[in-house]
Amino acid sequence: MKAALLLDYGPVENFRIVDIAPRDPGPKEVMIKVQYAGLRWPDIMVRRGDLGRRHTKPWVPGMEAFGIIEKVGSEVKDFEPGQSVISMIAEGSFAEYLTAPANLINKVPEGVRGDQMLCYAVNMVVAHLLVYGWGKIQPGETILLHTAAGGVGHMVLQLIKRRGTDNKVIALSSRDEKLDLCRAEGADYCINYKKTDYVREILNLFENKRVVDISLNGVGGDTLKKDRQVIRPLGRWILYGVIGGVQPLDVYAHSYDSITIMPFSMIPFIGTEIHRKAVQFMHEWVTTEKLIEPTVYPLEEIGKAQDDMEHGRTSGKIVIKI
Ligand SMILES: NC(=O)c1ccc[n+]([C@@H]2O[C@H](COP(=O)([O-])OP(=O)(O)OC[C@H]3O[C@@H](n4cnc5c(N)ncnc54)[C@H](OP(=O)(O)O)[C@@H]3O)[C@@H](O)[C@H]2O)c1
Repeated sequence: MKAALLLDYGPVENFRIVDIAPRDPGPKEVMIKVQYAGLRWPDIMVRRGDLGRRHTKPWVPGMEAFGIIEKVGSEVKDFEPGQSVISMIAEGSFAEYLTAPANLINKVPEGVRGDQMLCYAVNMVVAHLLVYGWGKIQPGETILLHTAAGGVGHMVLQLIKRRGTDNKVIALSSRDEKLDLCRAEGADYCINYKKTDYVREILNLFENKRVVDISLNGVGGDTLKKDRQVIRPLGRWILYGVIGGVQPLDVYAHSYDSITIMPFSMIPFIGTEIHRKAVQFMHEWVTTEKLIEPTVYPLEEIGKAQDDMEHGRTSGKIVIKI
């Protein structure tokens, strides 16, 4: 089978498109003929070795797959060949065949395209957890949204603007064309943080008042010094990623304003009622709402896709066509 093999941690040049043998499923496993693999920021972190260096090299990365079941193991009862499924796994989706435990496989709702399902399967669940499960966003609140045109960020924006009650969203991005997408989705204020200091811009917009009730920040880095200048006293600050780098945070600077700092990961939610509701919501959304179109790269361009994402040239969801 064709696969994108990563020779070592490091730059995208470490990818090789190779021909390797697929693995037959064990008793509790399923083999999927992969049509699309999803790309997320953690794929970049895995490749760079930011999340630890535990892989046996070389390996086939990739954490999201959509495809058709090819074979099932002898003890698998819930699936059969020919079904359309998605799988969220630790590695292996950047290949023609993925063999994965059956408990990590989910059916795709009738009538939903696989590449579009990948836009929502993880990112809308994360968005729902951020907005409701963790952020508990209230009617009328103003939200500062970093990476508003990104995979997770755009889901958050859609969720707030299509389901929220009178919420204002201040959307941040590094490119005007990405802010156009945010505007089209209903963002109330759109700021290009590469062209202007977003703190000064927000203060100018609101007569020097700190109006942000809650900031949703998947960036970290320098923004850790900035957000607190626009979050109101008693406001909330969700930190859910470190795209801009890991920086120390002066917690005491925030205690002065009683800002609640809320680090977030979806992992502890898995298995909880809050997570179950988020997944159910995502399923309802993909079958009833107008869905976004992903940007598609062929497997041969996996390096370019990751490089584009790493350097802020992508928007929405990126999928890899196998
Ligand atoms: N905690 C969790 O459980 C969880 C789960 C899923 C995802 N996440 C996090 O959610 C965040 C978004 O992930 P995603 O997959 O949806 O990625 P993404 O937002 O689609 O892509 C990354 C975007 O980050 C922005 N960015 C801001 N500062 C940047 C910098 N210094 N260098 C490069 N890009 C920068 C760029 O958008 P602009 O140019 O528009 O700013 C870029 O397009 C990540 O931090 C990820 O780790 C967390």
